[in-house]
Amino acid sequence: MPLEALKEGHRRALQAVDRLKAADGQAKQGETAQAVTSARGLLPFLENDQRVHFRQEEEGLFLYLGYIIGDGPVQAMVGEHESYWKAIASLKRLLDSPADAGELHRQLQHIVYLLEGHIQKEESAYFPLAERRLSATQLQAVDEEMETIARLEQPARPSTGSG
Ligand SMILES: [Fe+2]
Ligand SMILES: [Fe+2]
Repeated sequence: MPLEALKEGHRRALQAVDRLKAADGQAKQGETAQAVTSARGLLPFLENDQRVHFRQEEEGLFLYLGYIIGDGPVQAMVGEHESYWKAIASLKRLLDSPADAGELHRQLQHIVYLLEGHIQKEESAYFPLAERRLSATQLQAVDEEMETIARLEQPARPSTGSG
């Protein structure tokens, strides 16, 4: 299925959103320490997995899509990726200092809002457009490009020597 890597990335991001909402619920109730622990546990996904996903979009799908729909709409999505990184940087600052529960709540809520809105736009507008307007050959090239990016982004694993 075309764009499956990106769709799978969205499914996993929405699972992370559920966990962010749970952490947000803890922050809302003033359970700061628990909320910090929950949010910290999500950082590997929010940073590493999302970095791969955004790269797959920016260097894979969006390049092809830009030829068809122009740079403006594509830059709108790239801009949302940048807003996401700013929000994650703020979250990390909050997690590193003895966090104020109210502030943590607002920041978690903001990240949930950003991610849900962004995924919704890509799934409802950008992906269907790509599937309609790109040829089968182009979609295959996009998928191959995204596979290469995922491979390059994988942390190097020590060889086990067993082949
Ligand atoms: Fe995106
Ligand atoms: Fe996406």
